[in-house]
Amino acid sequence: MAIESPRIFRITMTLWSTVVRATLVMALSTTLNLAHADGAAIALHGNAQGAPACATCHGAAGEGTAASGYPRLAGLGAEYLAAQLDAFANGQRNNPVMAAVARALTSDDRAAVALYYAALAAPTVKPGIGPGANSPGALLFDEGRWPQGLPACSQCHGPGGGGVGTTFPALTAQSALYIENQLRAWQKGARPPGPLALMSVVASKLSDSDIKDLASYISALPASPPFRKSKP
Ligand code: HEC
Ligand code: HEC
Repeated sequence: MAIESPRIFRITMTLWSTVVRATLVMALSTTLNLAHADGAAIALHGNAQGAPACATCHGAAGEGTAASGYPRLAGLGAEYLAAQLDAFANGQRNNPVMAAVARALTSDDRAAVALYYAALAAPTVKPGIGPGANSPGALLFDEGRWPQGLPACSQCHGPGGGGVGTTFPALTAQSALYIENQLRAWQKGARPPGPLALMSVVASKLSDSDIKDLASYISALPASPPFRKSKP
């Protein structure tokens, strides 16, 4: 018995600490669940910290408002969307409207609303009467300009611009105005360089008329499925 007791004591203590740990983990995950933000509610109604409803600008189904340059959000990758919201909040992506919106969201809110938009279906685009397949925009999009070291947009954004994986966002269903604004933002350093600074380099090789040609060509592309679906 003198030998057995310490062992029973140790077994009891091990059991006890397992119970304590399990209870703590359960309590913690309940708190996290309670704190978990509601992406749909934020998108449609805003939050109590003054964030406006995203839908007023980005559309009821996340399709964007072409004439104002408010981008489509529906069906873009969650990681991409959350990274953009963080960049607006910390000023790396310089836009006064979105800076105010993003700063009124907690990081939980940003992650939740990003997940919400990522899970929405990509908008269907009415096939536009865009510049044809032999237009300057189409040639840049599909072939690039190799003497200048400019790769084709389709190499990273997918053959029809539908996006590739979680890193390369879809360009289809974005308006000409929004696309133009982004390419100019990279030229001016008003948008963070992003992964491997790929887009800063691409944008630096585009002339003013390249940007116009690309924006009108891309904005008329029909919606095409992502090359490899982004994780929602
Ligand atoms: C008053 C209009 C307005 C409201 C409201 C608004 N946005 Fe925006 N949003 C914009 C504009 C304008 C841009 C483009 C900024 C730029 O050109 O860089 C944008 C861009 C974005 C982008 C970048 C998309 C991309 O493809 O890179 C995200 C993400 C975004 N908004 C999320 C939200 C969320 C989430 C909400 C709601 C909490 C919201 N926005 C509310 C106007 C708005
Ligand atoms: C080498 C890869 C690569 C090439 C080539 C490339 N892109 Fe991109 N592009 C990216 C990446 C990566 C992002 C996301 C940047 C970020 O996360 O901030 C992006 C983002 C964009 C966006 C912003 C989309 C949004 O929702 O805000 C536009 C517009 C764009 N690219 C246009 C183009 C055009 C036009 C071309 C061809 C002239 C092109 N890209 C070529 C990698 C590339």
